[in-house]
Amino acid sequence: MRKIDIFDTTLRDGEQSAGINLNTQEKLEIAKQLEKFGVTIMEAGFPASSPGDFEAVNKIAKTVKNSIVTGLARSMQSDIDTSWEALKVAEQPHLHVFLATSPIHMEYKLKKSPEEVIEIAVEAVKYARKFFPLVQFSAEDAFRSDREFLTRVVGEVIKAGATTVNIPDTVGYATPAEYGALFKHLKENAPGADKVKLSAHCHNDLGMAVANSIAAIENGAEQVEGTINGIGERAGNASLEEIAVALHIRNDYYKTDTGINLRETKRTSHLVSQLTGVVIQPNKAVVGRNAFAHESGIHQDGMLKNPETYEIITPELIGAKVEPLALGKHSGRHAFKDRAETMGFQLTDEQLNAAFKSFKALADRKKEVTEDDLFVLFTGQQIKDTDAPVYKLISTQVEYRNNEPNATIVAETPDGEETTVTSTGNGSVEAIFNTLEKLVQGQVHIMDYRVTSIGKGRDALGEAVINLSYNDERITGRDVAQDVLQASAKAYINAINRQLMKAELRKRAEQQ
Ligand code: KIV
Ligand code: ZN
Repeated sequence: MRKIDIFDTTLRDGEQSAGINLNTQEKLEIAKQLEKFGVTIMEAGFPASSPGDFEAVNKIAKTVKNSIVTGLARSMQSDIDTSWEALKVAEQPHLHVFLATSPIHMEYKLKKSPEEVIEIAVEAVKYARKFFPLVQFSAEDAFRSDREFLTRVVGEVIKAGATTVNIPDTVGYATPAEYGALFKHLKENAPGADKVKLSAHCHNDLGMAVANSIAAIENGAEQVEGTINGIGERAGNASLEEIAVALHIRNDYYKTDTGINLRETKRTSHLVSQLTGVVIQPNKAVVGRNAFAHESGIHQDGMLKNPETYEIITPELIGAKVEPLALGKHSGRHAFKDRAETMGFQLTDEQLNAAFKSFKALADRKKEVTEDDLFVLFTGQQIKDTDAPVYKLISTQVEYRNNEPNATIVAETPDGEETTVTSTGNGSVEAIFNTLEKLVQGQVHIMDYRVTSIGKGRDALGEAVINLSYNDERITGRDVAQDVLQASAKAYINAINRQLMKAELRKRAEQQ
């Protein structure tokens, strides 16, 4: 059985895609779940890119013990120094340093000759190794690089001390046969490649990221990189849960071991979707809502006779078990606490009390409180980030006057003043958004707005996700409520507050 290391980059390559922005608390929750999922390495962020990233990487490095925590750095001393400050507390400090090696990137982006690129890469790896016992070098756009030049780069960075070399298909251009052949070539020809790990990192522009990653494994890669649910720039990265399940189900063929705890798959996927606001397509392999649904009569008949007729993956394997009994307004604190624990949430007494209070309020209005509702409620408690001055929504009201919606919002401003604002719009949502724009006194552009129901039934909770730009910064907010208009107002304020918290963090970092 060959061991394949799983390198998760949900919090770096995944998080850097348009419209996703996670705060430190949310990143920490995802990191703890990735640790439970059993990833070998998690890339917690890009410490030199912003104070927010630095803080998140540092907190994750302090918290996570059973997975290696890494951070991304450009091939420059200042990035490596900042990353060391963030990561030196980790159990096994690991750095991921990168530089582009394709002709187009070297000429137009870096404006460097191939010789200069080799020199910078070697210097960066040598410098990083002064601090970090584990250093991964990535040759950005490796797949479109000249093969002989790439082979030289790989050999030189290994000589300089790289412990892993990553060969990304940065623009998702490769086919499985070509990408596999590149790994075979490097393993056989790059000096020292047999002594380090080669890693595959695939983007999904042509829908081949998972197939390419597996082709690399078949041709000598000992590590694969990707994200949960395949989130990432453009068409995303390789889906780690798909790779892990494929290697497991076809173990007879691949004969590999990833060390992934597959029973945590569904929960990991659910948490990432919930916190990033990126919905999972219903027919997505492994984690899509319909992945185990059998609609046609012939399939249903076969399933009843023997599930193996049409089912190669069981829901149990990925932890998608049958939903337990819903909780209702008569459920007690004990049952509630038990459910939080069986769902994998470790809440403090204070968080549990607050969640129980919200649960009772919800159960008064809703016949049954389902696992989906509870998931939102519990994660909501875990990700509270209250330490910056923000807006607090007190009430939202919409009434029609002469067929025109008028919104009135009462809120507390970041300086603690209670204020009432009103405005109109062509529809109720527009009236609310116009009123909130007045409240926050800045230019707000709405880029995307979505409302979905959580779970089933006419009394289901509504979740609003809004992507907007405020103070020239693009940010996503989300929140839930039983009323979709209220959920929309809360999601808008959530986005504004996230921008304020980020700005506050930047201010504090500058003052230090
Ligand atoms: O896609 C890519 O090339 C990357 C590198 C930074 C590894 O994400
Ligand atoms: Zn990438």
